[in-house]
Amino acid sequence: IHDRRESLYIVTSWAADVFQKSLWETDEGKSIGLSYFRERGYRDDIIKKFELGYSPESWDYLYKQAKAEGHQEEYLVSTGLIIQKEGGKSYDRFRSRVMFPIHNLTGRALGFGGRTLKTDKKVPKYVNSPESEIYHKSAILYGLYFAKKAIVNTDTCYLVEGYADVLSMHQAGVENVVASSGTSLTIEQVKLISRFTKNVTMLYDGDAAGIKASLRGTDMLLKEGLNVRILLFPEGNDPDSYIQKFGPKSFQDYIEQNQQDFISFKTQVLLNEAGNDPVKRAGVIREIVESIALIPDSIKASLFIRDCSVKLDIEERILIAELNKIKLQEA
Ligand code: UTP
Ligand code: MN
Ligand code: MN
Ligand code: MN
Ligand code: MN
Repeated sequence: IHDRRESLYIVTSWAADVFQKSLWETDEGKSIGLSYFRERGYRDDIIKKFELGYSPESWDYLYKQAKAEGHQEEYLVSTGLIIQKEGGKSYDRFRSRVMFPIHNLTGRALGFGGRTLKTDKKVPKYVNSPESEIYHKSAILYGLYFAKKAIVNTDTCYLVEGYADVLSMHQAGVENVVASSGTSLTIEQVKLISRFTKNVTMLYDGDAAGIKASLRGTDMLLKEGLNVRILLFPEGNDPDSYIQKFGPKSFQDYIEQNQQDFISFKTQVLLNEAGNDPVKRAGVIREIVESIALIPDSIKASLFIRDCSVKLDIEERILIAELNKIKLQEA
């Protein structure tokens, strides 16, 4: 006897299997999907490890097989694999895409991201499983199942934006990595990480969106008491593109040499935006103190205040006064 959640898991793992077989065993899958992954530089062992797949160009490839094998329509719809139209006609959500199954902590596929192979800007790059009873976007980190051991062993977690970044980093031998999958980092995700380590390094994309997400992510992590480091990639790059362009060795060197603590990171980004305007520069200092005010451990916070005072060449007592003011406002 299965409960309902179990029945939904059975359907999603079954679908992962169908997409995987389609990638490795069908002509379309091999010539389109597998070639795509290989051309992006992914090794077969990585493609297999992450159970990547392919959804063919068809409205009912999955649906037909599901029906033939006796899977209940309701489960297919509830997991978002099948979309039911008003009139009752049903069709596959994922079509003509390479498939990334999203696993829970025990390694079961419970959702999917599907990437288009088209370069057409009008087609959404990724289509993802919708929220369901078993798939909660805000509480999932892509790759955690494959990373958790390495996270514990290294006592560090790299946080990246995308599926492709996780794959390339594994291939480069860096396995303590998870992706927030484009959504902005949630408290649930931060709590999930903190079960395995208190040290997080954000490796977000080197673009305006990546910088913004890093600033916001920093505050989320600090608030939960985690230690944060940030690394910015050269404009237009993400971990995946960097690795595929420059190779694993220079990637590892790059992340070792370019990580910064959050004060240096915020200082660099915000002072750069502020230019020489003294009012804006004062605003930057306030923003940094606001981040420090989030840190629950007051001893740690006071050490960061000292660090900030040195880095920005401002008297510590002024920063402490500012910190206390912010704390009072929050109370
Ligand atoms: P990116 O746009 O940085 O994509 O989005 P990427 O991971 O580098 O993908 P490639 O290299 O072009 O294949 C980062 C993440 O945001 C989510 C996905 O999880 C993606 O990996 N995303 C992005 C979506 O869910 N939908 C989108 O349309 C775009
Ligand atoms: Mn639930
Ligand atoms: Mn991006
Ligand atoms: Mn990216
Ligand atoms: Mn990318």
